Amino acid sequence: MQLEGKTAIVTGASSGIGAEFSKALTEKKCRVHGIARRTERLEKLRSQLGNLFIPVTLDVNDYSAMERWVTDTFHGDNGDPGSSPENGTSTGPDILINNAGLGMFGAIDELPPEHWDTMMQTNLTSVFRLTRLIVPMMKASDTTNHIVNISSVAGLLGNPNISGYNATKFGLRGFSEALMKELRNFRIKVTCIYPGSIATGFFDEHGGTHPNMMQGSDVANTVIHLLETPDNFLIDEITMRPLIPKPPGK
Ligand SMILES: NC(=O)c1ccc[n+]([C@@H]2O[C@H](COP(=O)([O-])OP(=O)(O)OC[C@H]3O[C@@H](n4cnc5c(N)ncnc54)[C@H](OP(=O)(O)O)[C@@H]3O)[C@@H](O)[C@H]2O)c1
Repeated sequence: MQLEGKTAIVTGASSGIGAEFSKALTEKKCRVHGIARRTERLEKLRSQLGNLFIPVTLDVNDYSAMERWVTDTFHGDNGDPGSSPENGTSTGPDILINNAGLGMFGAIDELPPEHWDTMMQTNLTSVFRLTRLIVPMMKASDTTNHIVNISSVAGLLGNPNISGYNATKFGLRGFSEALMKELRNFRIKVTCIYPGSIATGFFDEHGGTHPNMMQGSDVANTVIHLLETPDNFLIDEITMRPLIPKPPGK
């Protein structure tokens, strides 16, 4: 896909890899609707990235607000004013990056059920809810579209004390594989990515980052490569890891 003039939705755009995806996409002259709850972070990003970045304050778990936003932004008279076939840009979203997510860790007998529910809703159910709103527009499009789901190596390997997070990311893997087979003949690519540790705010409550973690920009560059592949070429899964995962000196 040629990214210039295209329209993307990135969830979890206010920090970490979502902010890096937004930066990399706007550098390619792609319009980005960046969804997150923290308005001030999104506004700061707009001041850095320019008007191709459109801040969207939304909680992905507020399904009626999300539905209203999709309708207001992409359908009818209120359609996205910056995008139209006349000015060479597309009207509906060409790219959906389902990235918003969080990890709440703990032993099975200590993990509060509310933490399980929050992870399930944010990491998995909201992906289903947003994707089902976007897919009809992608099916109606006469160009190739792309959905990228951000799982984790925790979507491939179970480990102690992260059972809830594991369950959401394994779930996202199954969802992505099914969707890939369901949507390929509509010219909609589906890719699921499985990163190891990346230096982001994800670790604010899990011991902090260290210099051997991957950088968000490396993950974003890989996603740009995925999106720019030729139309009839699909990379459906990518695992990425730091070469040496342990902190320096450990
Ligand atoms: N960092 C890693 O090592 C790593 C490895 C593998 C996979 N991942 C995955 O990568 C994704 C991004 O994480 P990150 O590492 O970039 O961490 P991060 O900096 O904490 O970013 C998480 C993003 O998700 C958004 N978010 C969380 N709950 C939300 C909600 N209810 N509604 C809307 N947005 C919400 C946050 O925005 P607001 O708080 O502003 O809403 C934030 O922008 C997650 O799915 C994570 O599981 C991370």
